[in-house]
Amino acid sequence: MTKIHAAITAVGGYVPEDVLSNDDLAKIVDTSDEWITTRTGIKERRILKGEGLGTSDMAVKAVQQILDKKNIDPLEIELLICATTTPDYTFPATANVITDKLGLKNAFGYDISAACSGFLYALTTASQFIETGKYKKVIVVGGDKMSSILNFEDRTTCIIFGDGCGAVLLEPNTDGFGIIDSVLKSDGAGRAHLHQKAGGSVKPATVETVMAKEHFVYQEGQTVFKFAVTNMADVAYEIMQRNNLTENDVAWLVPHQANKRIIDATRERMGITEDKVMINIQRYGNTTNGTLPLCLWEWESRLNKGDNIVLAAFGGGFTWGATYLKWAY
Ligand code: UT7
Repeated sequence: MTKIHAAITAVGGYVPEDVLSNDDLAKIVDTSDEWITTRTGIKERRILKGEGLGTSDMAVKAVQQILDKKNIDPLEIELLICATTTPDYTFPATANVITDKLGLKNAFGYDISAACSGFLYALTTASQFIETGKYKKVIVVGGDKMSSILNFEDRTTCIIFGDGCGAVLLEPNTDGFGIIDSVLKSDGAGRAHLHQKAGGSVKPATVETVMAKEHFVYQEGQTVFKFAVTNMADVAYEIMQRNNLTENDVAWLVPHQANKRIIDATRERMGITEDKVMINIQRYGNTTNGTLPLCLWEWESRLNKGDNIVLAAFGGGFTWGATYLKWAY
């Protein structure tokens, strides 16, 4: 029987209009454009402003682009998986909100929580539904309104994140294109170094937790950096090795955009040149679950059928992983 691969057949994306530059941040916290640029590669990031707007509002815009581009009836979508760390609500799932807002009445949906690796976890999960042959149109969304959990008094953390969302459509392909392989990893011991202290069942919200600013991202930057820089590079190399890909075979690396220095280390480990790496960290910062699909969205017009693409990510959990796919259009 011919193998069914899950192929990305369309990409959508959305970043909010409001730009927060490094110079703007320097007016809020003790930092400078020079420090942020040299340490991270970030120049500016987008912030979702407006009362009552959440991650689903960005996701709706990204998914709507896909429906428009492909001229798809919303009723054809069977499943929507949303990877996010900043869900609209603790429950129900943001995927449910998105499917409702878009009228995807025949789709079921759920969220995946794997921080910055969430999009890869969701893509891999979604691909299984396609590979069984049972599902024909599945949407994977990755995005975050990181500004909703940032402490703008913590200069080491607030400078790296931004808001944004991307989405892809997965459809079956029997010509060898699509997702070929994924390596996903996690190590919960890493949670000590990157987490949100309050708001979960261990420490529900109280006046005290709010006053102590425990509903924001807590990150020990240096420690996370050390794990990220080795693990993301290692896993990207591992997926090349086990699929017999040389540096010349790889058309593009799509790296998680947390820090330009982590991206460079991954590229060097893979042995590929800089022109093969998608980098938009300077404009959007780290949009957590949004980084990978936003890269695909921005580079879509430059991709060719058959391109070997490696996606790699590292994030809170710790979670990390890499996916190898053959571009299908
Ligand atoms: O995406 C999820 C996973 N997250 C990541 O991958 C993030 C990984 N970590 C990082 O990217 C980096 O650790 C940061 C960008 C967050 C921080 O960069 P760093 O080079 O690790 O800085 P540091 O925390 O070691 O701080 C170095 C110095 C310190 O001053 P002293 O002690 O040397 O005097 C900090 O106080 O820089 C100071 N500093 C700043 N100075 C100006 C820290 N943040 C800032 C700032 N502006 N924003």
